[in-house]
Amino acid sequence: ETAPMPAVVVIFGATGDLARRKLFPALRSLHDRKLFNEESVIIACGRRDYSDESFRAVLGGDEAFLKHIRYCRGDNAGDEVYEKIKNIFDEIDCQVQDYPFNKLFYLALSAQDMPLVCRQLARWGLLEEAPEQGWKHVIFEKPFGRDLASARLLNDELLALLDESQIYRIDHYLGKETVQNILMLRFANVIFEPLWRAEYIERVEITAAESLGVEQRGAYYDNAGALRDMFQNHILQLLCLTAMEVPVSFDADAVRDEKIKLLRSIRPFDLKNLQDFIVRGQYTAGNGTVDYTHAPGVKADSETETYVAARLYIDNWRWRDVPFFLRSGKSLSCKKSEIAVIFKKIPHSIFPNVTPENLGSNELVLQIYPHEGITWSLNAKKPGPKLCLGKMKLDFDYATLGRSSNDDAYERLLLDALLGDQTLFIRSDFIIEAWKILTPVLEQWQRSPEKPEPYPAGSEGPAGAEKLIAPAEWRSLS
Ligand code: BG6
Repeated sequence: ETAPMPAVVVIFGATGDLARRKLFPALRSLHDRKLFNEESVIIACGRRDYSDESFRAVLGGDEAFLKHIRYCRGDNAGDEVYEKIKNIFDEIDCQVQDYPFNKLFYLALSAQDMPLVCRQLARWGLLEEAPEQGWKHVIFEKPFGRDLASARLLNDELLALLDESQIYRIDHYLGKETVQNILMLRFANVIFEPLWRAEYIERVEITAAESLGVEQRGAYYDNAGALRDMFQNHILQLLCLTAMEVPVSFDADAVRDEKIKLLRSIRPFDLKNLQDFIVRGQYTAGNGTVDYTHAPGVKADSETETYVAARLYIDNWRWRDVPFFLRSGKSLSCKKSEIAVIFKKIPHSIFPNVTPENLGSNELVLQIYPHEGITWSLNAKKPGPKLCLGKMKLDFDYATLGRSSNDDAYERLLLDALLGDQTLFIRSDFIIEAWKILTPVLEQWQRSPEKPEPYPAGSEGPAGAEKLIAPAEWRSLS
């Protein structure tokens, strides 16, 4: 793998949860894998009072990595932090004159703080790119807006300060190996393309189920809900990768162009009969979990959905009338993410006493979590003298390719950002198209007197989701 050029990585929100759980471990791992340039510097910004040494001590571990880190204390709204960053940049740029240091900012902040920090960075001249001085990129955590209007506003604010080529909007699902593999599987093999269409595919099921409830994130989550937290980003990305046309090349914009085309082909939800197309649920107590409305930070009369299941259609030649069933929720019976492509039955059976309906469907399942792999189910002869057909499963496990852990999505995305590769990051038009699809649903829910349907924690979701997919059935979560 290519190692990045020297860079200064500035992390805002460095004392927060995301930085501690994901960002520092990812940077440390890149360092250990020799993918973090030895001359690079990390500036950790936070409001808490640490020195370089005491912050390093909090992170702990090997000094070889820790020595890259400097701590910078201050309020994001004040000037102190930016002045310090500028001084460090100047110091580095003065010391090293043979080649420029790139600058990467990571905003691990809540959405409302992002424009403020960007304005301050711009005011201090920290976002300006000049020839021969290396690039300046900014990574933004989701959520990116909370509906179409706010996302447009945020995009406009950021695009007034930055060029699109400097903006890296993160969706950590795109950093998962198994998610990246969807495009390889589809476009590096000849066998899928002819079958990947309405003529042969009955339906597609995309699942991102979680067993945990909202835990300590109630205050954030209650303001968001499953549609904003999982659908607007992760689920729609999975849908795009599964259903988009072949891009012109594997170049960032070519891939992102195809995703946009796909989003634009999604049939708008029928708002008059919305419950036939999208179902929302909220978990109640069960399985040792308290009722959602009793979780810390959640309003007692909250109508926020913790589960969404949807049936949608893509109006283009390839997918005409094929239903795509999407679901995601908290406090379900287990944590599981997968994409299942369910093929049509054979048109006619030549086998005695076996009708096409008796035969199982061919299913291709791209497993993202917990198992990372691919399964194919086929019909085959059961061994023995009689003609007896049964289901045969071909099971591929990523681990056999020497896959590392499930947890390295942030590592991959940070590496790409350090290399200046935007392919796995989200372009502004994706955000807008995604909100165009979902904002009418959010508005309709707000107008509607109906509340989310309750489902007990630890179950497979609300009954309405079963109705949505009937007469078919969801693949089991367990
Ligand atoms: C995050 C959501 O983006 O994704 C969380 O904000 C969710 O609510 C998480 O738990 C799920 O990610 P993963 O990688 O564990 O499937």
